[in-house]
Amino acid sequence: MPININHIRTVKIEQEIKESPTVKTFMFKDPIAFRSKPGQFLMVWIPRVEELPMSIMFSSKQEYSAISIRKHGIGSTKLFDKKIGDILGIRGPYGNSFTVSKKLQKNVLLVGGGTGLVPLIRLADFLKRNNIKYTLIIGAKTKEEILFYNLAKQLVTNTQCKVIVTTEDGSFGIQGRVTDGILDIIKKENFDMIYTCGPELMMKNIFMISLENSIPIQASLERYMKCGIGICASCCINDKIVCKDGTIFDQKQLSKMSEFGKVFRDKSGRKSRY
Ligand SMILES: Cc1cc2nc3c(=O)[nH]c(=O)nc-3n(C[C@H](O)[C@H](O)[C@H](O)COP(=O)(O)OP(=O)(O)OC[C@H]3O[C@@H](n4cnc5c(N)ncnc54)[C@H](O)[C@@H]3O)c2cc1C
Ligand code: FES
Repeated sequence: MPININHIRTVKIEQEIKESPTVKTFMFKDPIAFRSKPGQFLMVWIPRVEELPMSIMFSSKQEYSAISIRKHGIGSTKLFDKKIGDILGIRGPYGNSFTVSKKLQKNVLLVGGGTGLVPLIRLADFLKRNNIKYTLIIGAKTKEEILFYNLAKQLVTNTQCKVIVTTEDGSFGIQGRVTDGILDIIKKENFDMIYTCGPELMMKNIFMISLENSIPIQASLERYMKCGIGICASCCINDKIVCKDGTIFDQKQLSKMSEFGKVFRDKSGRKSRY
C-alpha cells in the first residue's frame, strides 16, 4: 500500500553529528525523505513536546535522511537533546523545491546563513550530480558557528565549484556579513541564478542585490508553521501560504510581497515588524 505522507511515521535516530556547540544533525532511515527534492521540509514530532518544521538535510547513505537542529527555544532544545536510539515522528516531505534548469543554469550562487544552509547543502549535491557549477557562500557569526564546512568542501572536491566562508568577527574566511562579500563575488563571475535561505533580513538584502544586478533569485522563506499543509494559515506572507505555495519563491513573487523582510507573524498570528 502506498504510504500517505500526511500520516506520522516513526523513525529511530541512528547517528548524530555535532556540527557546532548549538547545532546537531540526526540521521535516520526514511526512504521517502531520502527521495525528497532539495528545499523540501518535514514536520518533526518530538513526542510529548510539539511538532516543528525542519528542512531535510543531505545524506549520502542510501535510504537515509537527516535533519540539523539549532538549539533555540523549548521545542528545538528538547529535539537537540535527543540521543541515538530515540524515536521521532515525521510527516512530509512538504513544500515546493528549488527549480534548476540544466539549459538555463550554468553557473549559480548559493548563499546561506545558519541552519538556512541545510536545504542549500542538499541543493549543492543535486547541482554537482547534474554538472552545474556553483559557488556556495557560508555565513556565520564566528569560526565556532560555521556549519557544514567540511561537508561542503568534500562536495566541491574535483569540481569547478567553490566554497567561501564569511564570519562577522573575521575569525575565519572573509570578515563581515554574508551580504558584504557578495558584490565582489558577483562582479568577478556571471551568475545566472542566486539561491538563498537563512534569516529573512539577510535574504531581503540578497534579494535587493539580485534586483540591482539583474540576477534571478529563489529564496526559501521560514514562517511560523502549525499544520505544514496549507490549512491553518499561520504561515501566511501577504496572500501566499508559505508551507504550500512555497517555501521557495522567485524574484517576481518576492517583488509582490510587501511583508517580505518587514513583517512576521507570532504564534497567535499577530503581525509584528522585524
Ligand atoms: C520550513 C522551515 C524549515 C526549518 N528548518 C529548520 C532547520 O533545518 N533547522 C532548525 O534548527 N530550525 C529550522 N526551522 C525553525 C524551527 O522550525 C523552529 O522555529 C526553531 O527550531 C525554534 O523552535 P523552538 O520551539 O525551539 O522555539 P520557541 O522558543 O518556541 O520560538 C522561538 C521562535 O522560533 C520560531 N518558531 C517556533 N515554533 C515554530 C514553528 N512551528 N514554525 C516556525 N517557526 C517557529 C518563532 O519565530 C518563534 O518566535 C525551520 C522552520 C521552517 C518554517
Ligand atoms: S502552516 Fe498551516 S497553512 Fe502553513
